Amino acid sequence: MKELDGKVAVITGGAGGIGRAMGIRMAEEGMRICLSDLNEERLAATVAELREGGMDVIGVAADVSELSSVEALRDATISHFGAVDVVCNNAGVASGAHGKLWEHEINDWRFAFSVHVYGVINGINAFVPYLIDRGVETHVVNTSSNNGGFAPIAMSPTYATCKAAVVTISECLWGQLHEIDAKVGVSVLFPTGRTKGVLDTGIWAAAERPPGYEAAAPIDHTNKMAGWIASMEAAGTPVAVTPLSEVADQVVDGLYANRFWMVEEGRFEESVKQRADIMLRRADPFYQLG
Ligand SMILES: NC(=O)c1ccc[n+]([C@@H]2O[C@H](COP(=O)([O-])OP(=O)(O)OC[C@H]3O[C@@H](n4cnc5c(N)ncnc54)[C@H](O)[C@@H]3O)[C@@H](O)[C@H]2O)c1
Repeated sequence: MKELDGKVAVITGGAGGIGRAMGIRMAEEGMRICLSDLNEERLAATVAELREGGMDVIGVAADVSELSSVEALRDATISHFGAVDVVCNNAGVASGAHGKLWEHEINDWRFAFSVHVYGVINGINAFVPYLIDRGVETHVVNTSSNNGGFAPIAMSPTYATCKAAVVTISECLWGQLHEIDAKVGVSVLFPTGRTKGVLDTGIWAAAERPPGYEAAAPIDHTNKMAGWIASMEAAGTPVAVTPLSEVADQVVDGLYANRFWMVEEGRFEESVKQRADIMLRRADPFYQLG
């Protein structure tokens, strides 16, 4: 997009983490922001905090796993700001599935898919026809992950599978919009920053599940980040924390550049080459995510 100043962004999963950081960064470009989240309390606190900082922000609670809820989010944003220019399908969860893939409960898969995959599909169905009809430069950003998006970490099959789907959905969306010469840009975001490190967000704790997605086995909801950093450091690999503002910089930079692959340069090139090489050699899928 040539211009972001005055444009309107809707960001799902915007109450905290990467979504909140994108909201702040886009507001710094002069954008008007609709943050949306399932967690109403956290959303209200974040909106209040950003407004105190002088940003033009509203909060609209929505559940991305329900199309009607995302349609209501679209209508509420248009009714308040008059338009939507950028849609960030960003909401995500740690499903809390554990153990072997063949021992996962079906609800582990259903829950992960409901947010990560149907969340993006619902965002597309609710917003893209409207964006096409507007006939002006607009953009959709779908949040994937290196885990699944470039190559899967075998120990997190629900997450990796969903994030692979987000890449494929985004590629198909780009292809179809290109085919009809629409002015709607598409990007897939692999959250990374200039600082190579971990992202300190809520995704390190398994999410509470809504009715209908309960697990039979107990789920550990504790935040796993500190333990993971400690184990890496014990193994001699110190871990840095990537400022979330750096992820947001990449999104804004990618919007101006109309860049499909929103990923820090020099980060996952080796993983992508290794995976492609493994496929071409018909070798075993032994991946080391860089
Ligand atoms: N943190 C990382 O290391 C990392 C890496 C790669 C990709 N991602 C992806 O980035 C995105 C943002 O995650 P984050 O790391 O900021 O985590 P986060 O937990 O801080 O933010 C995710 C937000 O999504 C919201 N949410 C969950 N289910 C929802 C639903 N059904 N409807 C609406 N909102 C819902 C949560 O309430 C939360 O505020 C996710 O898609 C995640 O998978 C994160």
